[in-house]
Amino acid sequence: MKFFLDTANLDEIRQAAVWGLCDGVTTNPTLVAREGREHRAQILEIARIVTGPISVETTSNDTEEMVRQGVEYAAWAPNVVVKVPMTPPGLAACRRLRERAIGVNVTLVFSANQALLAAKAGATFVSPFVGRLDDIGHDGMQVVRDAVAIFRTYGLATKVLAASLRHPLHVTAAALAGAPIATMPFKVLEQLFKHALTDVGQERFLADAAKLAAELEKQKARV
Ligand code: E4P
Repeated sequence: MKFFLDTANLDEIRQAAVWGLCDGVTTNPTLVAREGREHRAQILEIARIVTGPISVETTSNDTEEMVRQGVEYAAWAPNVVVKVPMTPPGLAACRRLRERAIGVNVTLVFSANQALLAAKAGATFVSPFVGRLDDIGHDGMQVVRDAVAIFRTYGLATKVLAASLRHPLHVTAAALAGAPIATMPFKVLEQLFKHALTDVGQERFLADAAKLAAELEKQKARV
């Protein structure tokens, strides 16, 4: 299972890369705006750190404009993947960009049927938004399970990219659903490390190692 980081923040991406846990990055206009820098400059910085796919989102409802932006983004770095919305113009843009061999991530997917449409349009990735569905009282993870099952049944090459993950249980559920990729905020990635018994166990091991070292020093001093 690949882990993508859902952020445009360079410090977060650098830290995840140090841990070997950044197989790719997903950005959106909200995340890029949060960093307060020009879009291209920010993506170029990310591309200096990350060799895996970097999703960059188009900002239009018009097919021609999405294709224009997508072609431009794809020239920024070889690993840029263009994000288009799960709308009729978005899927038309997806098909056109795929014809040019540009990677496409169809975003804002909220049903299995939408995931299927995106796959039929040749999407490289589809992004079901789990957390946003949970927010309105639906079972967001069911869309991930269904899309994974449908793609497997028909041997579709499109990859399910579980998105809008808000907590560690979402990551576990996406893994159990067989999602090949999960994208998560840095905070969630950090939470995956945590277990109280790991902290207590490590403290005890260090204390015992220090006790033994002190004892051996004492014995050495005696002889
Ligand atoms: C994914 O590509 C999106 O950027 C992201 O997962 C949306 O998450 P949110 O619903 O927490 O904003």
